[in-house]
Amino acid sequence: MNAINLESSGKLLVKGPQIAKGSVKISGSKNAVLPIMAATLLTKEKVILRNVPELADVQTMTEILEYSGKTINRNDEILIIEENKELVGEIPYEPVRKMRASFNVYGPLTLRTKETKVALPGGCSLGVRPVNYHLEGLKKMGIESTTEHGYVMGKIIDSKNEINISLPFPSVGATEHLISSAVLLEGKTIKISNCAMEPEITDLIDFLSKMGAQIEGKNTSIITIHGVKELHGLEYSVSPDRIEAGTYIIMGAIIGDNLKIERVCIDDLRILLNMLEEIGIEFEISEKENYVKISKVDFKNLKNLNIDTAPYPGFPTDLQPQISVLASLIPGKSTISENIFSSRFNHIDELNRMGAKIRLEDNTAIIDGVDYLSGAPIQASDLRAAAALLIAALSAEGESIISNIDHIFRGYEKLKEKLDKIGIKIEYN
Ligand code: UD1
Repeated sequence: MNAINLESSGKLLVKGPQIAKGSVKISGSKNAVLPIMAATLLTKEKVILRNVPELADVQTMTEILEYSGKTINRNDEILIIEENKELVGEIPYEPVRKMRASFNVYGPLTLRTKETKVALPGGCSLGVRPVNYHLEGLKKMGIESTTEHGYVMGKIIDSKNEINISLPFPSVGATEHLISSAVLLEGKTIKISNCAMEPEITDLIDFLSKMGAQIEGKNTSIITIHGVKELHGLEYSVSPDRIEAGTYIIMGAIIGDNLKIERVCIDDLRILLNMLEEIGIEFEISEKENYVKISKVDFKNLKNLNIDTAPYPGFPTDLQPQISVLASLIPGKSTISENIFSSRFNHIDELNRMGAKIRLEDNTAIIDGVDYLSGAPIQASDLRAAAALLIAALSAEGESIISNIDHIFRGYEKLKEKLDKIGIKIEYN
């Protein structure tokens, strides 16, 4: 597969303030396509995925699947995944360290190759992110893991015919990993409770079901899987990315002039749209044509925000950094509590460098709205922080230089092209 051009040397020059107008089309979902790609390990047959975004993370998953022996070809937004040789159960540290979703290959690969050695994903700027729920669940399902020198070694052991797993927290990754690892346990029934219910899990269940998996309980917190002998190839189209959509919607609320965001799954973004409506932001939505049209209003007329991030259908942690930019510009006191990740507030210091007034008390950001933000040199620490800082810089008076901007290419496809189309100018330098 061709490497994608990340278009960047790591710094972005943004002159503000700018206005976003015109329309932007949302790409396929990053968080849906990654576990789906990992699940292609469950079949020998050819899988064709449509609406696959061209992102650094998709490229990382491609490398991982290629290490395992799959052949992958990309043709525009279509990914063709084939198995032309025997799979290998060893995945080195280099690709795995780049993203945690890599670990979702471990269960399916162990089922196929019987013995595996897969690098453990490393630390992350959002705080401690262990994989204990994954490993404990897999063990009940008959995949025993030992950890040595930064690798997890997996082998198949005996397991019961009726397996009950209760997740201590509705982890998205663990829910996806356990479902994918259960579908090929022929003759066994696996019940997983306290599952996450994010729309990306629905996408994965739809994909697996179309492959021949027997899964009950879609869109609920209890999923029951009846293992089957084999799964077959298929063509599948990935749903649009709700976090990319949410990011452009928030951008529209801050700097939009009738900004149209197309290919939005409105249902997946109810919590954001309801919240924007409650504080006084007006927008037009079409559920039939899947778009949102939104303009900036006078921030002085808006009510304050009080947000708690929570598992779906709660407010997504992946939109928390972006929404904190909006909260910074609304007069009065807003609060944002982060309940999913222990240290997802790296963008706060950067926003304060731009003139925001935010202080942290435990896991809550207390935000005193300011009249405007001013351009400054700032640094992105992770994907969504990078998106938030970009929005902040676009709304700010004067010039900002955002370093470590490459994080943004993990999750925003064709960023420069899309921004160009809505009248936004940015320069890589
Ligand atoms: C996924 C998303 C990420 C999103 C997050 C929460 C992908 C590729 N990534 O990440 O964008 O921010 O969901 O919506 O889909 N935990 C444990 N042990 C485990 C697993 C998780 O303690 O074995 C903890 C984590 O440290 C975290 C919390 O559970 O505090 C939630 O994490 P999880 O839902 O697993 O997030 P990811 O699947 O990694």
